[in-house]
Amino acid sequence: MTTVKTGRLISFEGIDGCGKSTQASLLMRRLEALYGKDAVLLTHEPGGWSGGEVVRNLLLHATSMSPLGELFLFAADRCEHVREVILPALSRGVWVLCERFLDSTVAYQVYGRGLPPDYVATIGAWASFPQPDLTLYYDISLDLAMERRRNRAHADRFESEHRSFLERANGGYRELQLQYPSRIVRLDASAGVTEVAEMTWRAVSQRFRL
Ligand code: TYD
Repeated sequence: MTTVKTGRLISFEGIDGCGKSTQASLLMRRLEALYGKDAVLLTHEPGGWSGGEVVRNLLLHATSMSPLGELFLFAADRCEHVREVILPALSRGVWVLCERFLDSTVAYQVYGRGLPPDYVATIGAWASFPQPDLTLYYDISLDLAMERRRNRAHADRFESEHRSFLERANGGYRELQLQYPSRIVRLDASAGVTEVAEMTWRAVSQRFRL
């Protein structure tokens, strides 16, 4: 994958219910207002490519799956998403806003499921996944995230996991932020939507000197 990258890649991370989808949409609108609709692409993992719905459905609703099988499926989904959607957009100079990316795999499959970190690193090296220019981590307590999710229709396989699994995933995000403080900005997602949107904008405008 040797596409020349001139756009910016921003990933949105955090446990389910942290509000990252709302914030990604708000940031998309703000960037569109500044640079035009064609300059911004909002996408997501798993499933953000042409064949992604099938993989997403399997990942979220299979009755049983091994941790390793799960890791390979997320990785396959990411390979196709990066090849078909992310790299072409970056080479056109587009702002790519991606709900979940590499850090989700470390938080959920390594910290959550207990897979060795070098499995993820090895796959990342094989695939040459692009690094985000900025990662926004929406930090929220498990209790508040669960409260916010209460109104949603059906829980998927990850949302139905034991509390300890989601706590490990959230702890994983916090560790990642400490490990990569210049790439990952931690935002307090317990605040209201408008306030979090302002924090998001501050992080983006500072990073890219807008
Ligand atoms: P998503 O649809 O983004 O969930 P939500 O909108 O509720 O935040 O993602 C579905 C689930 O997939 C989510 O619970 C986390 C999980 N996931 C992983 O375990 N590893 C990964 O690499 C990715 C991208 C997602």
